[in-house]
Amino acid sequence: MKKRDFLTLADFSSEEILDMLDEAVRLKQKMDNNEIYTPLKGRSASMIFQKRSTRTRVSTETGISYLGGHALFLGMDDIQLGKNETLKDTARVLCRYNDVIMARVFGHETLEELSEESSSPIVNLLSDKYHPLQILADLMTIRRNFGELKGLTLAWVGDGNNVLHSLMVACPKLGMNIKIATPKNYSPLEEVIEISKKEAIENNVEFVLTEDPVEAVKNANIIVTDTWISMGQDDEYQARVKAFDGYQVNMEMLSNASDDWIFLHCLPRKPHEVDDEVFYSNRSLVWEEAENRMYTVMAVVLKMLNLS
Ligand code: CP
Ligand code: NVA
Repeated sequence: MKKRDFLTLADFSSEEILDMLDEAVRLKQKMDNNEIYTPLKGRSASMIFQKRSTRTRVSTETGISYLGGHALFLGMDDIQLGKNETLKDTARVLCRYNDVIMARVFGHETLEELSEESSSPIVNLLSDKYHPLQILADLMTIRRNFGELKGLTLAWVGDGNNVLHSLMVACPKLGMNIKIATPKNYSPLEEVIEISKKEAIENNVEFVLTEDPVEAVKNANIIVTDTWISMGQDDEYQARVKAFDGYQVNMEMLSNASDDWIFLHCLPRKPHEVDDEVFYSNRSLVWEEAENRMYTVMAVVLKMLNLS
């Protein structure tokens, strides 16, 4: 059977995405009940990290350990990659040890190259272009809160980044309206806009791209933001903080949202993106969202290995 990678949610149908969410819910129930469940016994995953991580690293290591498998953390000072060895050679070696290779990288093409060279499935732990595991956790959180995804309106207020790109390829496909506010010169990639618009037309949902946060938030059920300065953009700090003036999510902005609004943020968070009143309110589901990173990554690993 041909191996399947998990690089972007654009590669998965709505049925497959919902199936992964169902599996994540079952895994949560098992863990909540302290059930012994070890389908990954004797299996291993390598985790290459070219960037920092708290949630992705810890949720993946912990989830794989619960399932009876072993996850190896490979930071950039730990392995030969990038100093003495190419990505190609690294991939060819790792897939002889590990059932799955997971990687957090800069360029998305790094994951595509890993995929070409590895006989084991590749899982995207974040690239500059996409962060699909994060969006599975977001969708799990949204579905638990509202009961279903179809018909909901999600608003993004912030940077046109990897987290937004993953929402854009997934939400319309699942029957959700998406309304995006990004400042001038910080809009999402044209290529991703095309995918999202096409899905929106096919699924008869709304797609809005604006520079006005209030327009995006209007009547939205879910409001999402993220850092204005993603990993690798530290040099742009001053310019970005200036460009994002007026984009802070706060109660005044959210007075335009639907009465049942919830707030999500993948974390880590800085107060200039969202003020404390919203971030620490009972409408902010960011802690549940972070917890759900664990069940969703477990579901993805099991699916990629055809073990669920
Ligand atoms: N949300 C997220 O991916 O967090 P980390 O960078 O801590 O993994
Ligand atoms: N957009 C952020 C997400 C961090 C989890 C980044 O890429 O740094």
